[in-house]
Amino acid sequence: MTNTPHISVQDFNVYIENQHILKNININIPNKSVTSIIGPSGCGKTTLLKSFNRLLDNTANVKIDGKVLVDGENIYDPNVEVTHIRKKMGLLSQRPYPLPMSIYDNVAYGPRIHGIRKKSELDELVELQLKATGLWNEVKDRLNASATRLSIGQQQRLCLARGLAVEPEIILGDESTSALDPVSTHIIEDLFIHLKQKYTIVLVTHILRQARRVSDYIIFVYMGKIIEFGPTEEVLLNPKEELTREYVKGFIS
Ligand SMILES: Nc1ncnc2c1ncn2[C@@H]1O[C@H](COP(=O)(O)OP(=O)(O)OP(=O)(O)O)[C@@H](O)[C@H]1O
Ligand SMILES: [Mg+2]
Repeated sequence: MTNTPHISVQDFNVYIENQHILKNININIPNKSVTSIIGPSGCGKTTLLKSFNRLLDNTANVKIDGKVLVDGENIYDPNVEVTHIRKKMGLLSQRPYPLPMSIYDNVAYGPRIHGIRKKSELDELVELQLKATGLWNEVKDRLNASATRLSIGQQQRLCLARGLAVEPEIILGDESTSALDPVSTHIIEDLFIHLKQKYTIVLVTHILRQARRVSDYIIFVYMGKIIEFGPTEEVLLNPKEELTREYVKGFIS
């Protein structure tokens, strides 16, 4: 692979309530690219995505072994400090969850927590991220309006702007267009394609058309195992594994 991995998962296993959920995962996620995780419902896509951000820590009865290296640092090392790892990653979930405050305050929230107080600096950051997510022209005249007044698609872009405002390196998206209409979906997909110049992006999606449109690489997961990983066209159009072929043809649901 020409691209240096940003996230490197090594001999990684996850057990939840004594069930073996992720089985001996080994994968290198390329830097500054879009990688999509695809596979049938319940195969472990969300669990894999959460493992990049230590979000599984919040799950009851979870046991983890193996390593996940982010920028070369094993985030499961017992001595590691979780906050700076989480700060590297922005997570976009299925539905937008704007904070119950104004559009402006949503974007300024993270920077304020990180100690930025100066209004001019916050103004600049808010404008920058609202522009980065294509929202600026739509909201610049009502920055103090409640974020919940925005359409669902706009709310999702606002959540993305809120995440970008803390300067992550990695964006994780778990079916982050599933609540959106086709136009908003298209806008978010275009944003991912554009944002990969600056960020490493890992998406979970069950929409193969979306995976094909936005991703450079695809990971196909089946029953907790990675069956195939490779460039998008290869995995979707000319898969090496029979299981992948059946899935992309729609035989496994
Ligand atoms: N907190 C939990 N407690 C018990 N089992 C869990 C938990 N989280 C995940 N699992 C189990 O782990 C397996 C993988 O779940 P996961 O949510 O990762 O699948 P998925 O591929 O994201 O599915 P979907 O496409 O439906 O979102 C499933 O069998 C699920 O029931
Ligand atoms: Mg899921």
